[in-house]
Amino acid sequence: MNRLENARKTVLKASRSYYAHLGYYEERTRAVTATEHELNFLEFSFRTHATHRVRDVLDVACGSGRHVVGLAHRGYKCTGQDYTSEQVHSARARAKREGVSIKLSQGDATSLKYESEFDAVLALYVLFLLPDDDSVLTCLRQVHRALKSGGIMVCNIANPFYDGGNWFSLKSIQQGHYFNEICVPGMRYTSIDQVQDFDSLHGVAWWQETHIIEASDSTHIFREHERLRLFTYWDILHYLQAAGFEQNKCYPDWKIKPTKKPKAEWLVFVSRKD
Ligand SMILES: C[S@@+](CC[C@H](N)C(=O)[O-])C[C@H]1O[C@@H](n2cnc3c(N)ncnc32)[C@H](O)[C@@H]1O
Repeated sequence: MNRLENARKTVLKASRSYYAHLGYYEERTRAVTATEHELNFLEFSFRTHATHRVRDVLDVACGSGRHVVGLAHRGYKCTGQDYTSEQVHSARARAKREGVSIKLSQGDATSLKYESEFDAVLALYVLFLLPDDDSVLTCLRQVHRALKSGGIMVCNIANPFYDGGNWFSLKSIQQGHYFNEICVPGMRYTSIDQVQDFDSLHGVAWWQETHIIEASDSTHIFREHERLRLFTYWDILHYLQAAGFEQNKCYPDWKIKPTKKPKAEWLVFVSRKD
């Protein structure tokens, strides 16, 4: 088995186990308020950056459907795709529960078959999980092809230089571990991440993760390895341009107003196909 297949298997194995439980966690924690904020940002970027009105939206790696379902509620025609069948299943259940209609399918972010079909494409919280940089470029090229002219892509990456500490930051990598605990009424989510290896030439970190979800009725504990690519602002800009996107704007932490010296945890890029 080659290195790429191995990396993909690791990512997907982690995804399967983690995301089978993630919907459960997401719906009970701050992800709900974060999603509202992100949806507002997405609508702002549709209005501001697309050259025509956005109607058809594709979400590559849609996860448990928080963005596609939210956008469908706001009147957009949404299509979602994710590699992990558990996630597609959660998104379908969420859409049904909330009474919205969305096209959902299982599929890899590097084998999108669409051509000039969408006004907007989302690739959120996923690029750093793809098994290698060729896959990132392939994914971005296919997103570019899937967009109509004047349409936009919104994608994001974790900022490795974020100094507030997070599992993706250089600070955590130097420390060798990252610990996080989120408590909400009736539930505690703990993650303990340890650095297994860091390839500083290619910006790739391997983590051993333990996630513990304790709720009043059940406890889930799972351990996985995760491969994470630490992209810089310039890395991603280079890939966006190589994929054909010439108009790219970065919004640190989903903030609409630019700040002079942003200390961003997340870098959100809005890119237009001209
Ligand atoms: C951190 S979640 C983000 C989900 C969603 N975009 C959100 O913001 O809620 C990452 C998602 O990427 C998916 N994923 C990982 N590798 C993928 C691939 N090669 N193709 C498509 N989806 C993938 C996982 O199954 C998971 O649902």
